[in-house]
Amino acid sequence: VSWLNLTLQDSASPVMEQLIFFHDHALMIMLMIITAVFYTMISIIQNKQTSRFILEGQMIETLWTIAPAIILVFIAIPSLRLLYLMDEIHNPVMTLKTVGHQWYWSYEYSDFTKLEFDSYMVQQEDQPIDAFRLLDTDNRVVLPMNSPIRIIVTAADVLHSWTVPSLGVKTDATPGRLNQMSFSINRPGLLYGQCSEICGANHSFMPIVIESVSTNQFINWVSKMSESSDDW
Ligand code: CUA
Repeated sequence: VSWLNLTLQDSASPVMEQLIFFHDHALMIMLMIITAVFYTMISIIQNKQTSRFILEGQMIETLWTIAPAIILVFIAIPSLRLLYLMDEIHNPVMTLKTVGHQWYWSYEYSDFTKLEFDSYMVQQEDQPIDAFRLLDTDNRVVLPMNSPIRIIVTAADVLHSWTVPSLGVKTDATPGRLNQMSFSINRPGLLYGQCSEICGANHSFMPIVIESVSTNQFINWVSKMSESSDDW
């Protein structure tokens, strides 16, 4: 993340890259439509109304009915392609389970023994000066980059939504249900996200921080975490 960023965040996964391409594609089509509409509006204002008493024109009416339908197909096909691409699970190397609570996330690395923790937002007065206000957590989600990862998402109390824009992941956390998503992270760094389902008073204060590291660093972290939790 960076300050004063108006558009989409830089992608950290192949799917998000495709989503940005699709966004730009849709924007170009919008630009074409807006240009055509404005051109028509201005020419209507400037022209002399010589054909005011014409009540129908079969050819133009057929055209301006079919043309928008064709334009919609050009949006619908890449949109559906992406929708099904995002739902695909590509032989994940590990699974992260995340549970939404009022108002924090808890994580379980079920592939490893007894590796689970809660992740709360860091209060502003406890933060270092260069941290992101309302966006940092006490325990980060450490994940290996360049590996297909599955996340399964649920909630313990009310609806939440586990949303990380730079990954293109947004999964509803629903009590009594288990949703799954898959992604792979293609660069190291910190990825920030927030709950995006209005879940009560502190909805704005249950952020997500993913620490994307190399596979070796991830294995070191897992073994360190598992050692320290032996006495649980
Ligand atoms: Cu949890 Cu909004």
